[in-house]
Amino acid sequence: MKNRASWDAGRFVQTLAYFDVIPFFGCIQRLIKAVIGDNQYKSSGEQKMGVILVAGATGGVGKRVVRRLVDRHYLVRALVRDVSRAREMLGDKVELFEGDITIPETLTAEMMLDVRAVICCTGVRPVEGDTQTREKYYQGIKFYMPEVVDSPEIVDYQGIANLVQVAGRYLPKADEKVIFDFTNPFADLKETWGAVDDVVMGGVSACEIRLISEGAAFAGNVSTANSGGFASVRTKNFEIPLNLTGYTGVELRVKGDGKRYKFILRSEGKWNGIGFSYSFDTEPNRWITVRIPFDEFIPVFRAKTVPDAKLELSSIYACQLMLSKFEYDGGLNPHFTPGGFALQVESIKAYGGAVKPQFIQISSAGVTRPGRPGINLEEEPPAVRMNNQLGGILTWKLRGEDAIRASGIPYMIIRPCALTEKEGGKALMLDQGDNIKGQISREDIAELCLQAISQPQAYNVTFEVKETDGAALANWQELFASLQADK
Ligand SMILES: NC(=O)c1ccc[n+]([C@@H]2O[C@H](COP(=O)([O-])OP(=O)(O)OC[C@H]3O[C@@H](n4cnc5c(N)ncnc54)[C@H](OP(=O)(O)O)[C@@H]3O)[C@@H](O)[C@H]2O)c1
Repeated sequence: MKNRASWDAGRFVQTLAYFDVIPFFGCIQRLIKAVIGDNQYKSSGEQKMGVILVAGATGGVGKRVVRRLVDRHYLVRALVRDVSRAREMLGDKVELFEGDITIPETLTAEMMLDVRAVICCTGVRPVEGDTQTREKYYQGIKFYMPEVVDSPEIVDYQGIANLVQVAGRYLPKADEKVIFDFTNPFADLKETWGAVDDVVMGGVSACEIRLISEGAAFAGNVSTANSGGFASVRTKNFEIPLNLTGYTGVELRVKGDGKRYKFILRSEGKWNGIGFSYSFDTEPNRWITVRIPFDEFIPVFRAKTVPDAKLELSSIYACQLMLSKFEYDGGLNPHFTPGGFALQVESIKAYGGAVKPQFIQISSAGVTRPGRPGINLEEEPPAVRMNNQLGGILTWKLRGEDAIRASGIPYMIIRPCALTEKEGGKALMLDQGDNIKGQISREDIAELCLQAISQPQAYNVTFEVKETDGAALANWQELFASLQADK
């Protein structure tokens, strides 16, 4: 008897509509979303790479860091002391987390959920002065009255040490890029992943992916009826493709049922394009780590190999998990049996990447100068001259830096000279050894932070920075390359 079963045309149309293969259906879905409201963030590859936590986000530098991150499609979480004030200041594209770095109980695991880097722009506030004095302070012309609102010991040292401690506990490994962490449930699993079964070719297999306590479960029933024999779940194309350049491969953490599955990457935006596939065996009911070097992926088009195709690591559009009766070029999966199946997935990561700074600290030029032999205080900026009256502000900032350097987290400590509210885009001078004086725009410090989280060239570095004459900066890599790592 021929293996025939009744085919579900409705499910076929649903699949194509989900993946926007029928553009009209996609339009309707988008229209509905526009009417009922979308998630806070649009889905994109870069956003799936984790959250950037900005501490001191309501400050002069912090608010500019947030604005730049949002403009460049990062997921941003702002650690703030006053949510309603922050919402007004930072807009609604930023997630707000209420906390205070001097109160460790407020710095929770929830604050660190999915965070891949911390940019810390906190600092004690000077006493409120009249508008004119404040204006001068913000222009880097005049320091405030020799008084600060909070204690620098508590904010600039203890507060930083608290933040470093919690960051060290929850930041991911520096050479990994988390693509999906299903143990940190994010709301849009159903928005991102959808089933692609052999129903698209007339078959009747069916599956789904859903969140369970230990991650996600890709499960269902695979049938060979109607010449079928595969079930899979695939992501929609990332709006901004993932850039996995510089990584060695993909790591899956899975618990299966003894069957052989496939993991597939796609580097073209086409629905029906070439997939890069890797078959892996699972062990019944046991968590295993599967490491797949990029050069072991096999290029396939409808299960036939395409020898010359190349996986473009700079533009990964989609991932897919599959259980199939077939291997490649007509070969059969040796561990295939029709019927129920289940593969639990904890995470999908890129591994073996270059290390980038994960804790970026805005400190201050001058932190090592108070009490340093040979320093002529007359020639030093006000913060150095008035360090004692200001509660030892620079001394405690240095202690805060020390806590970061001792943490083991890859870091970048930026020590700006006097900060101004002027336009950015100036030529910058970086120096090490804490000797320079000058000014720098808060805009340029914010840009420096953005460059820091994306550049692998410089980590575990401490440097001073000021603006200088000359043409605006064109090459950040070159600028960072001049830095020596701290001993
Ligand atoms: N002014 C200069 O010339 C100069 C020069 C070199 C370096 N720096 C340093 O550069 C950094 C950034 O400067 P800026 O002008 O952007 O500073 P800012 O405008 O004074 O901002 C400081 C930020 O830190 C936050 N903050 C203070 N205490 C906190 C706490 N306990 N918990 C959480 N957040 C806290 C403030 O939050 P609220 O809004 O809630 O108060 C504010 O968002 C500071 O560390 C500053 O000392 C300044």
